[in-house]
Amino acid sequence: MIKNELPHLLDIESLSASEIIALMDEADGFVQDLSQEKSTIDERCRDKVLINAFFEDSTRTRVSFEMAAHRLGLRVINWTAAGSSASKGEDLSDTLANLGAMSPDVLVMRHGEYKAPYTAASLVGCPVVNGGDGWRAHPSQALLDAVTMRQVLGDLKRRRIAICGDIAHSRVARSNLALLSKLGAELHVVAPEALMPREKDLPEGVTCFDNLKDGLSGCDIVMCLRIQKERMAAGLVPDPNDFHAEFGLNYDSLAYANDGAYVMHPGPMNRGVEIDPVLADDPQRSLVLRQVRNGVAMRMAILKRALLRD
Ligand code: CP
Repeated sequence: MIKNELPHLLDIESLSASEIIALMDEADGFVQDLSQEKSTIDERCRDKVLINAFFEDSTRTRVSFEMAAHRLGLRVINWTAAGSSASKGEDLSDTLANLGAMSPDVLVMRHGEYKAPYTAASLVGCPVVNGGDGWRAHPSQALLDAVTMRQVLGDLKRRRIAICGDIAHSRVARSNLALLSKLGAELHVVAPEALMPREKDLPEGVTCFDNLKDGLSGCDIVMCLRIQKERMAAGLVPDPNDFHAEFGLNYDSLAYANDGAYVMHPGPMNRGVEIDPVLADDPQRSLVLRQVRNGVAMRMAILKRALLRD
């Protein structure tokens, strides 16, 4: 049973549009404070303890939750499956119950299993933040992506945004589509048939395309997703060069989008597969590192929501 009275962040679907906008506003405030080198320590957060429980590898999500926690004045314990008793076969529920028994104030969790953070929410007795579960949800990524988009475009209502690549196996795509639908964006997804989800699994109003020319038409933002190597091994995508020729984002294919359209990628990138390396590093067109910078501010807003209940 999930302790619903706690302010967990398990998915985007359970947030209202106004809660999403409140988190984006708070994150924008932190972006300003951090850029002006103002102290962001919150006395109400000081010395509270975050456990970062990562059963899967991560660079951006784990470190930016840790950075966000330090910026607010929390203490952080980084738990990883490697080197823990999970590697001796300890049951997930036992691991979570034991972490919960140490009374953390908030737990951030990444796990490959569908809905594992819901299990955590029912066991640990503190707010749980989903840092990515299986193919299902990556809510903090979608929130930091939305704040990044709003900084360059303003209100996202009726803005046309394309998400390209491995939509079917992407928790980033799922959470972004759920969030951007709530904010009224016009959404295109572009993928080869093998990487396209079933229409019934997409939010209402999302339009599917099997080519970049049509899919990018009228778009202000193009988000590329990582093509996972195991999909190539399984024969779901052609070899990297063929994939790039048909579905890769480069200056030629970006020309199908609106003039000055921006490029995003949640990372990690396969340079030369889903995205051209020069475009990925182009400060005029690529928002990739801005996404990462905003990730710290958004995760500060998320931790504050989890810890400070009005
Ligand atoms: N975007 C993202 O989730 O990156 P990491 O896997 O490095 O956390």
